Amino acid sequence: MRKKVIAGNWKMYNDIPASVNLISELKKSLSGQEIKADVIICPPFTSLDTAKTLIEGSVIKLGAQNMYFEENGAYTGEISASMLKSAGCEFVILGHSERRTIFLENDQLINKKIKKALSSALKPIFCVGETLQQRESGTTESVIKTQVTEGLSGVSAEDLKKIIIAYEPVWAIGTGKTASPDQAQEVHKFIRTLVEKLYSKEAADEIIIQYGGSVKPENASLLLSQPDVDGALVGGACLKAESFFSIIKAA
Ligand code: 13P
Repeated sequence: MRKKVIAGNWKMYNDIPASVNLISELKKSLSGQEIKADVIICPPFTSLDTAKTLIEGSVIKLGAQNMYFEENGAYTGEISASMLKSAGCEFVILGHSERRTIFLENDQLINKKIKKALSSALKPIFCVGETLQQRESGTTESVIKTQVTEGLSGVSAEDLKKIIIAYEPVWAIGTGKTASPDQAQEVHKFIRTLVEKLYSKEAADEIIIQYGGSVKPENASLLLSQPDVDGALVGGACLKAESFFSIIKAA
């Protein structure tokens, strides 16, 4: 049985005081509760170190939202895998559609980042997803296939176990338009079958595939009850402890 994984992608929200508030509130909600899902928060870089201290002793795990693939060097503005490790991160989101579209990241760059994260003992939350135009033109599966295949190129079966795939249809991100449970299930199943073809049945059965895109307390239960939806990557709704907690409860 795959354990559900609920991750909160804070994006570019919350300075340090706001991060302290949000984590404190979330810890209050979680304390004394029986939590069956894994819970991950991905604050901005500037709040990671503070978050690391605050989550100690709680069920909350820490992730970052991006990193660069080089070990170190003259890369102004970039953050390395080892820096994230030293800030207490266990996870790192890679290939988010906002990185792909706004910062022009391509599959090759994302693949390098995934491999660097893995060799640095960071677990990638690897995002894939089609745009509205791609969905409407019927190319969803080929787009996802390319993103998954290129992103995982050269990744061993052993390392795959450390990867979470997040299916985030671009048209559902921050728009309030969620994929229907059937639409999500269809693509999740497609990704799992693809992993089976690329690796093995065992690998496909084990891999965690999260859904992301306007996940809210109101739609979380139905999405999470789909057989191939193993969790959620939450944006907007993770910025309030109460709504993030409701989604965790739904899992
Ligand atoms: P929203 O939940 O705000 O749609 O964002 C989803 C997302 O991009 C998570 O990575």
